[in-house]
Amino acid sequence: MSQATSRAAEFDEVEEIIEGLKQPEKMISPKYFYDDRGSQLFEAITALPEYYPTETELGIMHDNIDEIVELIGRQASLIEFGSGSSLKTRVLLEHAKDLAVYVPVDISEDHLLEAASDLRADFPALEILPVVADFTQPFALPSPSIMPLRNVVYFPGSTIGNFTEDAALDLLRVMYQEAGQDGALLIGADLQKDPEIIERAYNDSAGVTAEFNLNMLRHLNREFGSDFDLDAFTHSAEYNEDEDRIELRLVSGKFQRVSIGAEDFSLDKNEAILTEYSHKYTLEGFAEMAAAAGFEVRHVWTDKDEMFSVQYCVRK
Ligand code: TRP
Repeated sequence: MSQATSRAAEFDEVEEIIEGLKQPEKMISPKYFYDDRGSQLFEAITALPEYYPTETELGIMHDNIDEIVELIGRQASLIEFGSGSSLKTRVLLEHAKDLAVYVPVDISEDHLLEAASDLRADFPALEILPVVADFTQPFALPSPSIMPLRNVVYFPGSTIGNFTEDAALDLLRVMYQEAGQDGALLIGADLQKDPEIIERAYNDSAGVTAEFNLNMLRHLNREFGSDFDLDAFTHSAEYNEDEDRIELRLVSGKFQRVSIGAEDFSLDKNEAILTEYSHKYTLEGFAEMAAAAGFEVRHVWTDKDEMFSVQYCVRK
């Protein structure tokens, strides 16, 4: 990026942050979680004993990999929405021996290319064609040397749950489009359960999730010159039973004024900034949402306690 474009992009981002802070409930986009430290903290979250989703999803993949690979079929193009460095992707690539191509799609170019080169080292026979794109908008697919028989979109981690219902539906529609004729979607969806288990997963005893949440403000202070008083904030993770989601917030323990860009804000004592939602689904609710985007759920795999689901959907 040239200096001018990167400054323009920064300006847009400051505008976007200010816009969020002007809402009736202040909010900041979860994309600001992920600076280098944020990415490391996120990795650490996935290894926490209380954070059940990662281990549970990985277990489901392991236990059912033969069936999953069978459904993906031969000579498919596997298109992963989000970074492709995860263990779950590796389980798929190890077992789906006759993929035509693997297409990881991510907005962060450095991260994407690094993950792609790691995977190339481990899967030398597989063509890997990374695409730098914001996957919430339609993007062009690359042309692999082997013509794929069908596209299978892969979206693990229950990342779908981090979108509001409308945005999740829009995203599923982009997936529908990218999947194309005879295409399919393999997706991880976290399930509704005792809210205490969910709250514990997002408020771990080691305080890693709290640190991850707080790191967002540290990131903003460094990157955009804001002056949030970090020490005054605490992490909050509450399950909202009406909306079926865990809600992450940063709560200011004192009145403070914050400046960012050309603007000034005040936060009352105990006023919160919303940083992320993570929706939890019933199997029926998920099927309904998928259907609204044109998908039919063909197969659902869960763990024995029905904590998490991996679902295979086809275009209706
Ligand atoms: N999508 C996963 C979830 O909602 C992982 C995740 C995204 C997450 N953002 C997070 C986990 C913030 C903890 C905190 O669980």
